[in-house]
Amino acid sequence: MKAEKSPYNAVTPEIVQQLKEILGDKHVVYDDPEALEPYSHDEVPDLRYRHMPEALVRPDSAEQIVAIMKLANEVNIPVTPRGAGSGLAGGAVPVFGGIVLSLDRMNRILEIDRDNMVVVCEPGVVTSEINERVAEFGLFYAGYPMSLETCYIGGNVATNAGGAKAVKYGVTGRYVLGLEVVTPTGDVLQLGGKLVKDVTGYDLLHLMVGSEGTLGVFTKITLKLMPSPRKTVDLLCLFASTPEAIAVVPRVMTESGIIPTAIEFMDRVAVMASCEYLNETLPYERAGAMLLISVDGASAEQVERDYEAVGELCLSAGAIEVYVADNRTTSERMWKVRRNIPEAFAVQSDLQMNEDLVVPLAAISDLVAGMETISARYGVMMPSYGHAGDGNLHTRITPPSDWDEQQWLAVMPKFQHDLYVLTAELGGRLSGEHGIGHKRKEHMKTFLSPETIAAMRSIKKAFDPNNILNPGKIFEG
Ligand code: LAC
Ligand code: ZN
Repeated sequence: MKAEKSPYNAVTPEIVQQLKEILGDKHVVYDDPEALEPYSHDEVPDLRYRHMPEALVRPDSAEQIVAIMKLANEVNIPVTPRGAGSGLAGGAVPVFGGIVLSLDRMNRILEIDRDNMVVVCEPGVVTSEINERVAEFGLFYAGYPMSLETCYIGGNVATNAGGAKAVKYGVTGRYVLGLEVVTPTGDVLQLGGKLVKDVTGYDLLHLMVGSEGTLGVFTKITLKLMPSPRKTVDLLCLFASTPEAIAVVPRVMTESGIIPTAIEFMDRVAVMASCEYLNETLPYERAGAMLLISVDGASAEQVERDYEAVGELCLSAGAIEVYVADNRTTSERMWKVRRNIPEAFAVQSDLQMNEDLVVPLAAISDLVAGMETISARYGVMMPSYGHAGDGNLHTRITPPSDWDEQQWLAVMPKFQHDLYVLTAELGGRLSGEHGIGHKRKEHMKTFLSPETIAAMRSIKKAFDPNNILNPGKIFEG
């Protein structure tokens, strides 16, 4: 990475003292590299995207965040908000140093309002906890990022996280009804509320969704809930090859007339890596690729009809076998393998490139075919997996084992360029759900016009005139 030249001031002991007055001594960390190191990175494997903060603050209220933002503007110190650090774009990395503002202490579920079918929570709540808590009321939150057992809801909103259930339920933003936000200049905005509809002025609420911590710090989040589906069935569909599996994906919906909850794709290398990591056994030896398809609904009979239709379609399209999981234990075994693919790759090596490409659904086969061509062209491995039913695929690109870092770094920009040009030509975009962060910003221009990027920059400037909140993200320079 090019080192960012800092236009900011350093955090001084005097500033630390002021922070301690706002937060109490215990919740400010300074001059302690060991304690600060975990805040220098997220889940991006590439060590070049790390950067140490100068200080860490752990506020407990919107009022404290207001005071921190006001101080930061006054003394010209950048502030980088951080959730669980499970991001994959360097969005929570303090690329100019300064202050990392961790939201881990703001982890309360404030209200479960059954009559309005909403939950109000703070940003540091772990996503899976929301579902556990609302289930007691017969309710369900549709967000299902693969990191749901560790990620925070605030980060899900900040990246407009997608995950596995977006095929049927859509992405995080669809469920965000209200936000309390501290702006970069330290104002508090109340956006939306417990409202299904609201066109009272500009939709600032959804401008905040996906803004990657650059436009505001969320302090309260109101999410729409739904009645829990009464029945869910998962199908694990084995195919001989990747092209065969991926070609079925759009057909599942157009030909069976059913919108499954999830249509996840995993190639053999991805399944094998995760199975080995978990010491689990899915039948990957027999399959070049698999689709994990979920169907849910309010009636067992309907779900049965739906999954049979989907299963038959897969078999008629050449599936070798379709396994049906209609109990939680078997389903969870399959989903656990899927959820752990990123971690299984992450522990293998630092020389990896994680991508999050998204194309129109009907172009997904062309994307996969193009990826295979590029992988052969450069002699790198491109195992792929992901949310095929959304046209959204991940790949963990890795070099052959005998390459050193220098060889890898020499080739990386080339295959990355080819991959992005391919994606753009297919009408796709740079990131479907992980965001741009620090990692992808130089590639925005492959996908968006200068006018579009300029419009986005103007919005950033309007909210953050001093460029204090999470600078160095999304935009180059
Ligand atoms: C996944 C994460 C990487 O789908 O988005 O596994
Ligand atoms: Zn994903």
